[in-house]
Amino acid sequence: MIKKQLSILEESVKDALLKPLGDLDLEEYGIVLSLDRGIVIVKGLYKVKYQELVEFSNGILGMVYNLNSDRTGIILLGNYENIRAGDRVKRTYKVASIPVSEDYLGRVINPLGKVLDEKGPIDTGIIMPVEREAPPIMHRAPINKPLQTGIKVIDSIVPVGKGQRELILGDRQTGKTAIAIDTIINQKDKNVICIYCSIAQQISSVSKIIDVLKTYDALSYTIVVMAGAEDPPGLAYIAPYAATTIAEFFMENGHDVLIIYDDLTKHARAYRELSLLLERPSGRESYPGDIFYIHSRLLERSTHLKPEYGGGSITALPIIETQAENLSSYIPTNLISITDGQIYLSPKIFQKGNIPAVDIGTSVSRVGGKTQIPAYRQITTSLKLTYSQFSELEVFSTFSARLDEKTKIILERGKRIRKVLNQAQYKPIDVTDQIAVLIAVLSGLFDDVDIEMIGQAEKIAIKTASKNLEFQLSISELNKIDDRIRDDFLKETALEITKELVNKDAKSKKHR
Ligand SMILES: Nc1ncnc2c1ncn2[C@@H]1O[C@H](COP(=O)(O)OP(=O)(O)O)[C@@H](O)[C@H]1O
Ligand SMILES: [Mg+2]
Repeated sequence: MIKKQLSILEESVKDALLKPLGDLDLEEYGIVLSLDRGIVIVKGLYKVKYQELVEFSNGILGMVYNLNSDRTGIILLGNYENIRAGDRVKRTYKVASIPVSEDYLGRVINPLGKVLDEKGPIDTGIIMPVEREAPPIMHRAPINKPLQTGIKVIDSIVPVGKGQRELILGDRQTGKTAIAIDTIINQKDKNVICIYCSIAQQISSVSKIIDVLKTYDALSYTIVVMAGAEDPPGLAYIAPYAATTIAEFFMENGHDVLIIYDDLTKHARAYRELSLLLERPSGRESYPGDIFYIHSRLLERSTHLKPEYGGGSITALPIIETQAENLSSYIPTNLISITDGQIYLSPKIFQKGNIPAVDIGTSVSRVGGKTQIPAYRQITTSLKLTYSQFSELEVFSTFSARLDEKTKIILERGKRIRKVLNQAQYKPIDVTDQIAVLIAVLSGLFDDVDIEMIGQAEKIAIKTASKNLEFQLSISELNKIDDRIRDDFLKETALEITKELVNKDAKSKKHR
């Protein structure tokens, strides 16, 4: 089919080719034979290099991707509407690159550095190639600092470290983007530069995200790199590499960077489309054989550098959309194996209203645990244990009416822990406050509080903690919390809760 189209097109350019070519040097120039959504086949350009940029007569750029003996396959990086068979293409001797500078903070750009917002041109700094080698092992430092997402369920159970790659995956509309955006919002005043790479999303959803970042004062330390759904697939394909190059610029200058790829499912599809158009052989789910490699070489670039190599870090949160909760399809399994853990969002948990819908049983962080601050690590073990006990008992208890006292306590406490782990969007919580709330609920302070009032109980715990300087200090000193300080905090909180919540509750019950 494509062959047939090609031959028809070739007829139409025969004229162009038969015309005296004059001084047209087919080593330096080419002639467009055919084009399809995003791909141009060119005759000539015999000396061109793999991934070199070429320029069409209307100024649009393309990237050389297939080198055959008689024709060259080019991925378009711009609008193809004005390109015609017979047009000339010329070499640029450059690879795809992007300008990088601090001036890009707060801006929205495309993967070639073109400004997409209305804030005027940017003084371009250094130009760096979009595809770069990942830092060698000897340049890498261990991951030892936490990157706080501000989301209780993540920071406690699947903590992320600076330089880690943690996959966020789940069906559509399960809150994947929300987690990424809340994590960006939580980096305010924390000296972390954020890059949100939007891949083939509708313009309307990206502009909503930009508005949110503006509203929460988070755009000033964020760069949005986007290839829209309307853009050619070539742009979507290079977008995450370009965004990573910007991240590397900051990392190599000693900054901590957080990068979001939203999402790599669309990235894989863009690459599949390009590969099929280039008539490359396809394998499982029609993806080309090197689909694993395009994601592994991308995520290998996220790391924590040793001080002598810049000392910064790139923490990556790639997003993947699953279909019908199928974690074992091709792209999800690839990414699960490439990353250092995954946060799985379940639509069933989401429907029950437990949002963020993190499936604790399926989610894991393979390096983040070591980076948690000691005061936090102290409570996560008991949190995980209590919660998993509860999850088992909850299923079991639906079948039996009579429960002993001990079981009842586990169930009531578990329900309250689950409630505490629910969290509204755009409301990341400081790590000290998270610890205060979790210590309180795990010690049973919320056991007598009505489930509907748990939000208020949390506020009380946070308030008591904020007034207790000793408690605050013992957390910031990066030590475990002293038993006495902890007990004092618990006593105080218990008192306040009884005064403000339990009594009221009892009274209102009496009135009824
Ligand atoms: N913590 C939350 N609390 C309440 N609603 C949320 C929360 N997180 C996400 N949502 C809502 O759920 C919907 C889906 O979220 P979104 O992040 O866009 O999902 P996805 O990226 O997985 O498709 C959105 O309407 C969003 O506002
Ligand atoms: Mg999304």
